[in-house]
Amino acid sequence: MQSEKEKELIVRAIDAAPRKFFIVSTDYSILAANGFAKKASGMDEIVGRPCYAVFCNIDSPCDDCTARDVMRKGRPVISSVRNGPFDISGEGSCFYAYPVFENDRVQAVAVIDFDVSALSEIRGRLEMSNAFLRNLILSSVDGVIAADRKGKVIIFNEAAAEITGYTVDEALNDLDIRSIYPGDGARQIMKKLRSPDYGGVGKLKSCQVDIVRKDGGLTPIMLNAAIVYEGDKEVSSIGFFHDMTEELRMKADLQKTQTQLLQAEKMSSLGKLAAGVAHQLNNPLGGIMLYAKLLLEDYDLEQDAREDIKRILRDAQRSSDIVKELLEFARQTRQKQVDVDINESVARTLFLLENQALFHDITIEKKFCNGQLFVNGDVQQLNHVFMNIILNAAQAMESKGTLTIRTGLSESGKRVVVEIEDTGPGIPDDVLPHIFEPFYTTKDEGKGTGLGLSLVYSIIDRHGGRVSARNSSAGGAVFRIELPVAGTQHGKEKGQDVDK
Ligand SMILES: Nc1ncnc2c1ncn2[C@@H]1O[C@H](COP(=O)(O)OP(=O)(O)O)[C@@H](O)[C@H]1O
Ligand SMILES: [Mg+2]
Repeated sequence: MQSEKEKELIVRAIDAAPRKFFIVSTDYSILAANGFAKKASGMDEIVGRPCYAVFCNIDSPCDDCTARDVMRKGRPVISSVRNGPFDISGEGSCFYAYPVFENDRVQAVAVIDFDVSALSEIRGRLEMSNAFLRNLILSSVDGVIAADRKGKVIIFNEAAAEITGYTVDEALNDLDIRSIYPGDGARQIMKKLRSPDYGGVGKLKSCQVDIVRKDGGLTPIMLNAAIVYEGDKEVSSIGFFHDMTEELRMKADLQKTQTQLLQAEKMSSLGKLAAGVAHQLNNPLGGIMLYAKLLLEDYDLEQDAREDIKRILRDAQRSSDIVKELLEFARQTRQKQVDVDINESVARTLFLLENQALFHDITIEKKFCNGQLFVNGDVQQLNHVFMNIILNAAQAMESKGTLTIRTGLSESGKRVVVEIEDTGPGIPDDVLPHIFEPFYTTKDEGKGTGLGLSLVYSIIDRHGGRVSARNSSAGGAVFRIELPVAGTQHGKEKGQDVDK
């Protein structure tokens, strides 16, 4: 129970409150009002008068009467009253009305006002800051996607639309965040988000993943993501990302150029070394052969000794051939330069080889492009290139299988491309990086010199071209040669492309 003193204090406090406070009876007459309310009404006396007259300046209860609402519902109601003496700002004045009970019956309705202008200012500020945040997200260069706990997309900006191919409307209405990631990618990301290992619990930093575009294709993205919490509860997740396609392509290009540079550097220093050694070997080899011949001619030797000396001559000749190839490999200048039709050069090499026993069980498929394919170079050397590659292929296939030769122009039309593919065992990964090195061979002693491909490399390099090797999906080796198209008078002739 409240003491008399307490009751008196409450009454005084209500009277002194800088808010309008009224008590209205169940038949709409004002039973009591505090000082502030009386003053604000601007009327001599408001107690005893009907509330509709005082509040709304009318002579019968309003249609949407607040007091009646409270009496009917038996609980508080917030209402706003337009016009009338209390609506000073013209924006309407707001009232909080609540029932005062006596034995479960509403005995009266207490009404207290609150400040609308303060409320609308707060609302205004909130709207402004919401609009600012919205703009910030929508105009972000990064793609932004947020989804609620069920996977429904709730934020989706233009950048996200550009990367994924969905329109903003489609994403907001129909898209489930799980279908943006391949397989159970979305679950994996949530797992990482909840783990402390990827930037802290609730965060995922710089994670490269693929997303599934609307057309079904994949786009690599760099993703930063976070879980949005309300208290301890996860309410949604948000991801910021950008397209990595171009970046990855540049990286791969750079790596390729780097490997090519390294290879070129290696070949050039090996070339110099080889040339030095070859020159030094040339003279003593010449001497050996000369004196061996003299021995044979000048002396009447026993048959055994003649055989031995002939053996010396044969081996010296073989060494001299190797030295010649080495010098060829190291040669810095080009010889006779003419316009060479690559189709013709390959055809002539094949013609020479086709009838050899090595090729009897090999099917040769010529997929030459129509017309001529001119490059500027040395016919003999280019024939030598094709000869070496085709011989290697035949050896790798152990004389049976299919040899496919494609010729054509590169996509840009600036390079002549020749691809020579066999159905042999292919080149093992640990062998592939070395095949163009001089003296690198996997063949038995006496069978391979390891000079064939190094010669190919140096000849193509001197012609301003490129040679590379890879394995086909079927497993055989594919050698690809690219050479610059000869002067424009021939360059115009377009053949079909040879795809990578
Ligand atoms: N078509 C091919 N298939 C598989 N391996 C090959 C092929 N062409 C070349 N190679 C590999 O490259 C190595 C080097 O070739 P090359 O320089 O011509 O020397 P060689 O033929 O004397 O061994 C070969 O020993 C072989 O291991
Ligand atoms: Mg060879």
